[in-house]
Amino acid sequence: MEDAREIQTLFPEYLNEPAIDLGQLLGSRFRGLLSPVTHQRSTIGQDQVYDLEKSIKYHKRHYNPQGIRRLLERALQHFNPVACPKVLDIGSGSGNSIAAELQTLGGCEIVATDLSPHLLCIMKENLATEGLPEEKVNLICMDVQEPYFVPASFDMACGSAILHHLVDPRRAVVNVMNALKPEGAAVFFEPFEYGCVILKLLHNQILREAALRADASFQEGEPLEARLDDKVMNFLRDINHDYLLRSNVADGVKNFTHELDDKWLFTREFFEDIAKETGAKKVILYSNHEGMTETLFEDYIAQNFHLGRGWGRDVMPEWAWECAREFDRTISKEVKLEFMIEGTIILVK
Ligand SMILES: C[S@@+](CC[C@H](N)C(=O)[O-])C[C@H]1O[C@@H](n2cnc3c(N)ncnc32)[C@H](O)[C@@H]1O
Repeated sequence: MEDAREIQTLFPEYLNEPAIDLGQLLGSRFRGLLSPVTHQRSTIGQDQVYDLEKSIKYHKRHYNPQGIRRLLERALQHFNPVACPKVLDIGSGSGNSIAAELQTLGGCEIVATDLSPHLLCIMKENLATEGLPEEKVNLICMDVQEPYFVPASFDMACGSAILHHLVDPRRAVVNVMNALKPEGAAVFFEPFEYGCVILKLLHNQILREAALRADASFQEGEPLEARLDDKVMNFLRDINHDYLLRSNVADGVKNFTHELDDKWLFTREFFEDIAKETGAKKVILYSNHEGMTETLFEDYIAQNFHLGRGWGRDVMPEWAWECAREFDRTISKEVKLEFMIEGTIILVK
């Protein structure tokens, strides 16, 4: 039977349309979580929403606000946030950047946004468990590619690992810049094409060496554990293919972009163009690898094994790690910082 109760709406001052409290639609656990009326009617992007199971898995695997806190503290050295800032956080997930903002920006008030009501709920409950002031965080379930915010409502904005998941990241950045007050700053942490190209070359080097070693003339006397497992070769090939699909952000959406979870690797030009388009006063871009350059490529392969498949270092033989170390020895610290794998982007309005 259809529920005859009337759905109540609220109208927070930073939204440009009324919002529904999702507690009314999804149950009491979701009380306090708002969603713009037109977002609730829209079906776009609904196929990409993390359901409860995926949200719990994401939180378990990826919740680690310390890393984001370090990145945020470094970003804050590049501009002066006002005291007790109003912060817009886009694609907040289960709260890595939110916890970092609460710990770093004294007296801040945050609007946290995400497509997934489940992740936002997990965030709220987790902040309370961690003793962080969750009452300072307003949750909005929405698509950050849509312009739901009243212009000039926020002192600062942050997006951690969100833009590369969006079909139209340019639109999201433009929305964020409109939502900022003059002098406000937007900070994003995102992957870049430059460093991934080098990783691709390294993967190819390992694959070529594996092929040589598989050749009969190399097999003699070689212990079995020195062979590169097929599953590892396939994983390295898959990553290379993935990096290829996500490159050339300037060419725009391709017919496969919607199918990818991680959709893009960025370039400086991409953000410099948006800075011009939005009249941003300043664009600052730098690598996130400061202080970790010595074994950067070796560490990245290990991290990809761990995050991608849950594998340890022992999945790959010593000669293959030596290939990575050779790259690390050959490429200077300066070049590694210039050719970043992940970076920080700051746009000042
Ligand atoms: C890699 S997670 C990052 C989460 C969080 N910022 C962090 O650092 O852990 C990407 C998040 O973006 C959200 N997301 C994807 N597309 C979105 C969209 N169009 N609008 C709002 N959020 C979106 C996903 O639900 C997910 O929580």
